[in-house]
Amino acid sequence: MVVARRSIAEVDFAAKIDALTYAAASGRARSFAALLHQLPSIYPTEILASLDRLAKRRAISATFVANVRRQAAQNATSIEGRSLLPLPHPLDYEWRFTSDAARLLLNRATDLTRTDGELLLFGTPGLAIEALALPIDRRVHFLAENNCITDRVRSLNRATGSPISIAYCNTGLPFESADAVLLDPPWYPDFVRPMLTAAAHACRRGGVILISLAPSCTRPTAEADRDAAVRFAKRLGLDLIDHNELAITYDTPFFERNALAASGIHPPPQWRRGDLFVFRKARESTRAPLVDTNRRRDWIEISIGRMRLFLKDVNRHDTGEIGLISLVDGDVLPTVSRRDRRRRKVQAWTSGNRIFCTDNPQLLLEAAVSCASMASGSSLQPTLWGSMRERDAVLRVAEELRGLAALEAREEHGDDGTALERSMNWRSNSTSYCDTSTAISSG
Ligand SMILES: C[S@@+](CC[C@H](N)C(=O)[O-])C[C@H]1O[C@@H](n2cnc3c(N)ncnc32)[C@H](O)[C@@H]1O
Repeated sequence: MVVARRSIAEVDFAAKIDALTYAAASGRARSFAALLHQLPSIYPTEILASLDRLAKRRAISATFVANVRRQAAQNATSIEGRSLLPLPHPLDYEWRFTSDAARLLLNRATDLTRTDGELLLFGTPGLAIEALALPIDRRVHFLAENNCITDRVRSLNRATGSPISIAYCNTGLPFESADAVLLDPPWYPDFVRPMLTAAAHACRRGGVILISLAPSCTRPTAEADRDAAVRFAKRLGLDLIDHNELAITYDTPFFERNALAASGIHPPPQWRRGDLFVFRKARESTRAPLVDTNRRRDWIEISIGRMRLFLKDVNRHDTGEIGLISLVDGDVLPTVSRRDRRRRKVQAWTSGNRIFCTDNPQLLLEAAVSCASMASGSSLQPTLWGSMRERDAVLRVAEELRGLAALEAREEHGDDGTALERSMNWRSNSTSYCDTSTAISSG
């Protein structure tokens, strides 16, 4: 029964996408870029699938579809400027606002609050960075997860004279202190609800909450999820006062660029948009906030240069010697959807969306940590890796990890010479990518 209901929702969704795609393609949107721009933040693979369906029904010309597919496969993407922040990681679902969107949100929040008011940026490092550079006539607080992104925001904040105050959400949530709360939870109900509850808790009565939510064509359940979020907000004492469709633009994160490239698709940057919802807190909420402040407790994070590597099961005592084991061809998971079943098997995940399992999580951990040890001049721990054989395995896997970091560094800069596949080139790269390595527990 559940399966039947889901397939009806998917059929309805496909029909809705087809109607929109048909209208766009029959009008002015004659290229892949124009279609992405004109359609309401529909995923690039959905648009291409829709074009195929329309061509099959002879609603649009097959030649047009072939042209669009050719454009989609051309890697002409201009790489957005390197962010001051560490790379976003798929496990954080971190889609960052464009600079324009961050300014729009901060300006909107400023307009809606009084001069000495308080803005709370909740889980939005992209907004925090923008707030450092803008003259904002408000007290600005950044409530963040305890991770390397927040560490970087902290350093940049210090370097700019500490214009904002920063706190970790695992040290407690503010209560009715903010005049405006800005948040952008990952677009799934199990993130939206607790984060919205915490935002309502932190907001003063009469204050406002600005939240970006998934536009209705993002996925089959997006519209229902969004309506449920608005009903849920009502129960939190929040009245909807404004809804601006597709007002928020996002940079395409490196992990998503790689995921799409693995499917042979190279969309222009910044095609993704979110809907801005503005609520006013009219009543007290009776719900206690229950934000999971330790949600990545299963994962350990290790940075190897710009590459952020997340490892799971590191306390398991397996004895394999392979280390990194492929899960998909080319190692890049060609999707960023949480519904993808392959995600469940992943034990090592890079910020370029490369996924692996392992026959020995401790070997992987030791190899990753050894990159940092080598950079700081210390040696591997002999108690853990006593025999020559074990030591060789650690060195070999460390070399593979450095190769991955080098490959992803080239991809990040749009170096066409790198194919999205594991190659023997990894082994010939220098060790310099480990020179800023750090190992921290997540969550
Ligand atoms: C879609 S991203 C939003 C980033 C935002 N667009 C920006 O540019 O700053 C979701 C963010 O929510 C954060 N997040 C997820 N769960 C959280 C929680 N329980 N508390 C605080 N932040 C959380 C993630 O770390 C991630 O940065």
